[in-house]
Amino acid sequence: MSKPLITVRDLSIGYGDTTLLRNASFDVPRGDIFIILGGSGCGKSTLLRHLIGLETPLAGEIRIAGIGAPRLEGAAPRFGVMFQSGALFSSMTVGENVAFAVQEWTHLPPEAVSAIVRAKLALVGLEGSEDKLPAALSGGMRKRAAIARAMAFEPNLIFLDEPSAGLDPVSAVELDELILALNRNLGLTVVMVTHELESIFKVGKHCIMLDRDTRTIIAQGEPQKLRSETDDPRVRRFFNRETSIPQWQ
Ligand SMILES: Nc1ncnc2c1ncn2[C@@H]1O[C@H](COP(=O)(O)OP(=O)(O)OP(=O)(O)O)[C@@H](O)[C@H]1O
Ligand SMILES: [Mg+2]
Repeated sequence: MSKPLITVRDLSIGYGDTTLLRNASFDVPRGDIFIILGGSGCGKSTLLRHLIGLETPLAGEIRIAGIGAPRLEGAAPRFGVMFQSGALFSSMTVGENVAFAVQEWTHLPPEAVSAIVRAKLALVGLEGSEDKLPAALSGGMRKRAAIARAMAFEPNLIFLDEPSAGLDPVSAVELDELILALNRNLGLTVVMVTHELESIFKVGKHCIMLDRDTRTIIAQGEPQKLRSETDDPRVRRFFNRETSIPQWQ
């Protein structure tokens, strides 16, 4: 088996006096679609911010491709990110949003930047939308534009924080298909936070589940296997959420 792309060892994270996660260890294999699960407020977005080097852990170690403590400042990022708020700059067109990400780190001539912008928008199925403002796009198109922006540097790793939140079911399925296509066709490794069961089973290869009460990882492995094999009632409840909805007929 090849070396994992991300290794996390004995990681503790939190803010001030609050610890959100203690002694967490896990690996993200190269080429994986790795899902971070857990209830609201358990620290999923915080974990993501640590993985990309925006926050410093209380203890423990994070390595990406063998390199520790990745920092965004100063160096060109080696990975793409779509934050939970996912925001595109609303006063810039879709094309300008993607171009901005390229121009921030490179000194390419304008024609080269526009070629990259066109290629990235085509990659997410948004060809022809570069002159539109974000407000003129559907929610699903906006998410795809944010993914195009995250792909601007041709990263081999992207982080997505609840990419399908707030989307209608059809757009959410389309977004899952886009993520799968990027993973399969480009070998892109994806680390993603999501609550959507359908998404987890459709695209997820491995996952970890965080728990707010114990501040630990309460489950890790393949989503399908966890669902069928877990003895932990919390994990079972999560994966079988639909059965807790009362059935009236
Ligand atoms: N910058 C910060 N400073 C202090 N506390 C923070 C900060 N960011 C988040 N928190 C707190 O840390 C906890 C975890 O937040 P986080 O956003 O990581 O949760 P989450 O699992 O992503 O939740 P959700 O599913 O609602 O997005 C919350 O109690 C939150 O209030
Ligand atoms: Mg979050």
